[in-house]
Amino acid sequence: MTAAREPLRRLKDGTADLHQQAELHVRILDADATLTDYRHYLAAMLGYHAPLEDVLQAHDGLRAAGFDAAARRRAPMLAADLLALGDDPRGAPRCTSLPSVTSLARALGVAYVLEGSTLGGRYILAKLPPPLVRLRGRATAFLTGHGAETGSRWRAFAAIVARELVTPAAEDEAVFGARETFVRLIDWLAPRTRAAGESLQEAS
Ligand code: HEM
Repeated sequence: MTAAREPLRRLKDGTADLHQQAELHVRILDADATLTDYRHYLAAMLGYHAPLEDVLQAHDGLRAAGFDAAARRRAPMLAADLLALGDDPRGAPRCTSLPSVTSLARALGVAYVLEGSTLGGRYILAKLPPPLVRLRGRATAFLTGHGAETGSRWRAFAAIVARELVTPAAEDEAVFGARETFVRLIDWLAPRTRAAGESLQEAS
């Protein structure tokens, strides 16, 4: 997997600051997180994932590169979690300000953010605070993601990235796409999740 490391490392390093900012808008790890926080989180993530996954699924270049967008979708998991909590997922507003996927490299950058977040999801699931722990296994399909298959799916994605991002220019494009994905997600989450105080305002 050495060949797979290089562009992924660029993506990780090139978005680390935005990952940190995104974390500030996901309040479900706060010790005092409530069920309402969790519902808002699910609805907001559904509103971003559903239309963006549609875009990835319709992308011919991604399909040709071997990225099975349909099998990787997690919007249905978000919808299932909302349903389990008695909320109608169809009521969640959808984001219309999505990152652009004008090249395969950009689309891979977008996909990197959604795919990489499956790794973080498992971490979040393990760290849920006491008020939300009881939801585990009942309304945590999204955080569970592909479960035991998470690692192998991530490695398969890494192989696609390594195969397709073979020039510094393509890597730059991918990082651009990934950054745009984070920025638009943060803009989308900011008014929809509990405020974190002054530092959050400065960070976003
Ligand atoms: C409280 C919120 C979050 C926490 C605590 C968190 C935590 C983590 C952790 C621990 C990892 C590394 C997992 C591993 O290497 O096994 C990770 C990876 C990642 N997360 Fe998050 N995350 C959060 C939110 C998000 C959000 C909202 C997104 C974007 C949708 C995101 C995107 C990513 C990506 C792209 C990676 C892969 C990084 C890489 O290795 O290249 N995360 N996250």
